[in-house]
Amino acid sequence: MKRVTIKDVAKEAGVSYATVSHVINETRHVEPETEERVKKALKKLDYSPNIMARSLRGGQSKTIGLIVPDTSNLFFAEIARKIEDIGFQQGYSVIIGNSDNDLNKQKNYIDTLIAKNVDGVIFISTGSQELDLEIFPQNKIPIVVADRDMSLEIADVVLLNNKEGGYIATRHLAELGHKKIGCITGPNSLSPSMERVEGYKKALIDFDIIFHSNLIEVGDFQFKGGEQATDKLLKNNPDITAIFVLNDMMAIGAMRAARRHGLVLPDDLSIVGFDNIELSEFITPSLTTIAQPFGEIASIAVRLLIERIQGNWENRKNQRKIFPPKLIIRESTIKRV
Ligand code: RIB
Repeated sequence: MKRVTIKDVAKEAGVSYATVSHVINETRHVEPETEERVKKALKKLDYSPNIMARSLRGGQSKTIGLIVPDTSNLFFAEIARKIEDIGFQQGYSVIIGNSDNDLNKQKNYIDTLIAKNVDGVIFISTGSQELDLEIFPQNKIPIVVADRDMSLEIADVVLLNNKEGGYIATRHLAELGHKKIGCITGPNSLSPSMERVEGYKKALIDFDIIFHSNLIEVGDFQFKGGEQATDKLLKNNPDITAIFVLNDMMAIGAMRAARRHGLVLPDDLSIVGFDNIELSEFITPSLTTIAQPFGEIASIAVRLLIERIQGNWENRKNQRKIFPPKLIIRESTIKRV
């Protein structure tokens, strides 16, 4: 006999997963008519709370959930690999959900992980702030937010100091003598992208380098998006000598666009990326970039989550672990000639 889940009850009652969870846990006011419909569905399906199953099984499924925005993005592929590796070493299986940068798919994975009775979740957001992560603590599931900051009372946060990363990347180009430095951003709504651009602009001010808005083009953290944005940037600024690109995948796309414009790399154009994905050292010229400490981010996120799973997590003060960025100098940046 298949165990009835909250998703089944939600479907039967014609309400959201969150509404059923609020009725069961009495965590939020629900309209009487809706509450009645949910209670009828609970009775009709003879629902027994997952938490009951969890307590019968000693409270742990020894499974961790991980939700990332895009498994085809090499940054997320590498961070997911590290988290899975470290989680498995600690005795936890890791269920990885790809939200595809889509809010609805992200919500679907949130519901699925709760229905699967995971012990805890590491969460990298698609970036939308319209998100109700309260549903995790309401189901007694601790959560750690990684990489993209979220102002949450309910979660530990582990990420990089992105503003400092943008500053260091741009300072490197300024110290090489570049006086016209462009920037290819990620999606504007994402906190890592906005913070890196802040660092870029601060470095330009500190080094008395002129800034104007057409030195910035918006990308999408993908190879093709980096190529297309660089194409526009070079058309508008043919005399540019350096570009700070906000992730390595777009920087690789930027290199192809530069060559299409007849530029020789790095002689005619210096490029700095961000992330230090494994591929960045194997391309020609090898990419100067800002390293994200994949292993440390993963191990701290897993450690904080397991501490919560195994301890009295509801009262421990939330922790924010912000890593310093590190400049990795390779062949793609040289002194301005
Ligand atoms: O490459 C994807 C980017 O988005 C990375 O820089 C990472 O920080 C994520 O937020």
